[in-house]
Amino acid sequence: MFLFYNENGDNMLNIINKKRLGQILTKEEINYVVEKYVSGEIPDYQMSALLMAICINDMTDEETFNLTDAMINSGETLDLSGIQGSIVDKHSTGGVGDKTTLILAPIVASCGVNVCKMSGRGLGHTGGTIDKLESINGFNVNLSIEDAIKEVNKVGAVIVSQTGNLVPADKKIYALRDVSGTVESIPLIASSIMSKKIASGASSIVIDLKVGNGALIKNLEDAKHLSDLMIKIGKKYNRKVVCVLTNMDKPLGTSIGNALEVKEALEFLNGNRNKDLEEIIYKLASLMVSLGKNVSEEIALKEVKEKLNNKEALSKFYEIVKNQGGNIDDLKISNRVFSIKSPYTGFVKEIDTLKLGELSRSIGAGRYKKDDVIDYTVGFVLNKNVGDYVLKDEELVKVYLNKIDLSINDITSCFKIDSELGDVLPNIYGVIK
Ligand code: URA
Repeated sequence: MFLFYNENGDNMLNIINKKRLGQILTKEEINYVVEKYVSGEIPDYQMSALLMAICINDMTDEETFNLTDAMINSGETLDLSGIQGSIVDKHSTGGVGDKTTLILAPIVASCGVNVCKMSGRGLGHTGGTIDKLESINGFNVNLSIEDAIKEVNKVGAVIVSQTGNLVPADKKIYALRDVSGTVESIPLIASSIMSKKIASGASSIVIDLKVGNGALIKNLEDAKHLSDLMIKIGKKYNRKVVCVLTNMDKPLGTSIGNALEVKEALEFLNGNRNKDLEEIIYKLASLMVSLGKNVSEEIALKEVKEKLNNKEALSKFYEIVKNQGGNIDDLKISNRVFSIKSPYTGFVKEIDTLKLGELSRSIGAGRYKKDDVIDYTVGFVLNKNVGDYVLKDEELVKVYLNKIDLSINDITSCFKIDSELGDVLPNIYGVIK
């Protein structure tokens, strides 16, 4: 007789209390929570309490496997056998200024490897690919599974939101985590990402695991733990998972904010490339192409560079946007622009990337409540990033505001400027397979 199947409403309470006390949840309890939360029988406030207890008391690997499994089973799984050719998926654990998917999908598709990508909205202070794409007027992220497959067969790539009934548990839990302070948890991140990736059907998955003050994962030890966990989950489902550990102690590239990041992605594909972003794109794209085509990374990188330089990747970007109904010529960016100057001369030694991400959320680029409406037009464009030399009164950053204002001090306090640069962290820490 399972206590948690009683009808009194105290079953979820027992599960919350168990996790609050640091105990291990059974497979049945995890299945119960996921099933009843998706059906609406467990309210948000109880689910938030359980998520918070998980954040504080963690989960064992076994619990995380069970959670991932319950989330996959909460909906349909994609059968990609209708797609001709190889398919590779990619996911980021989330960062500030992370527009890599917008650039990778067209590059990889133009190399002949299919991308059928299910992306997320913003999470905490980090931006989400779906919000970025929705800054493009008309862009439809809500395709049916059948239509998504048709698009991949037609153009080689599609980027959709959690389509229809695919991992509905993650769709609901993800939105709740975003606004309940329960984002930064290794088992919750691993199960969220891997449930989506496994349900989406690709056999090879490249994970861009961001590490640093602007990421959900703050240090290399946790990053290695999360990588190992996702690789183990992948093995259970016969998927090849490769994790690339990348630096998120500084914003990636120059722009932060939805439409601004789309613009930067477009400029990148057009040949105007930020060097940090370029290094990370080369690594992720060559891994995806090498897995998709079963060729060496060196051969894959050569092809990636060729598709960028001959603008085939740019044409593919236009094709993807057009096929999903978007009008890229109508990208709206606020014209209330302010230039923030450096108070000192010296090297930009550090950027408080988390704070900058939070500030972009505060001006409307992200959400605080589930039904908040995003302002796609706002954000920041950095003129200086970590390692750059700046003169007093030279521009540090351009701020694009709309309805909500910001103090200059809030922005400048994110930048630590020093006469000495010291050690500069690499863009890529390593690859774990
Ligand atoms: N991306 C996801 O899909 N889920 C997380 O929990 C974090 C990043």
